[in-house]
Amino acid sequence: MDTKTIRIDRIGPGRATQLAKLQVLTFKQAYFGIHSPEDIEAYCLANYTPEVAKAELASEQTVCCVGWLDSEPSGYYMVKHQGSPIDLGSTSSELKQIYVLSSAYGAGLGRALYDHALTTIRSAGHLRVRLCVSDINYGAQAFYDKLGFEKLGAGPVLEVGKDKLKSSVLALKL
Ligand SMILES: CC(C)(COP(=O)(O)OP(=O)(O)OC[C@H]1O[C@@H](n2cnc3c(N)ncnc32)[C@H](O)[C@@H]1OP(=O)(O)O)[C@@H](O)C(=O)NCCC(=O)NCCS
Repeated sequence: MDTKTIRIDRIGPGRATQLAKLQVLTFKQAYFGIHSPEDIEAYCLANYTPEVAKAELASEQTVCCVGWLDSEPSGYYMVKHQGSPIDLGSTSSELKQIYVLSSAYGAGLGRALYDHALTTIRSAGHLRVRLCVSDINYGAQAFYDKLGFEKLGAGPVLEVGKDKLKSSVLALKL
């Protein structure tokens, strides 16, 4: 089997267009068949534009990195160094998004991005990682389960167009 080289680089506001493209593509692939095309489109138009990405990337609390498989940008993660709505007893950062192109699933990029995100969080002096996952995202739940995350409680209701999804907050001590 031919093994591809994984590379991860941090991006800033100058790469907002690249991030928005990756966000739209990975989101559409992840939720195809789960939400209607109209609901997915509405979500992407509201959340994944170059303008929104630029503002996110300009925030001092945000660290965003793109993962490459050989010369192809194939996934990304976004960490927010901000306080938790749930008291975790130690400073935590949020793993806000981690997405890989469907053509790259299973190639180890998700794990590589995740390990990189943990290094980012530790370097900020934070002691826990937390995240929110929708209760119907069984693939991501299996991924986080394998990594040792524990469920802390119910998260916010996530809205994708007209769909309203229950979610859970998961956390892991570093
Ligand atoms: C979740 C996601 C980031 C994993 O990325 P990936 O590149 O496929 O994961 P990897 O190849 O690095 O696999 C890492 C480990 O997780 C496991 N894993 C990944 N996806 C899994 C799934 N759907 N079910 C069970 N295990 C899974 C792998 O088997 C592997 O385990 P191993 O280390 O014991 O071999 C990717 O599937 C994705 O982008 N999903 C859609 C977006 C999404 O749901 N993001 C999270 C939103 S909260």
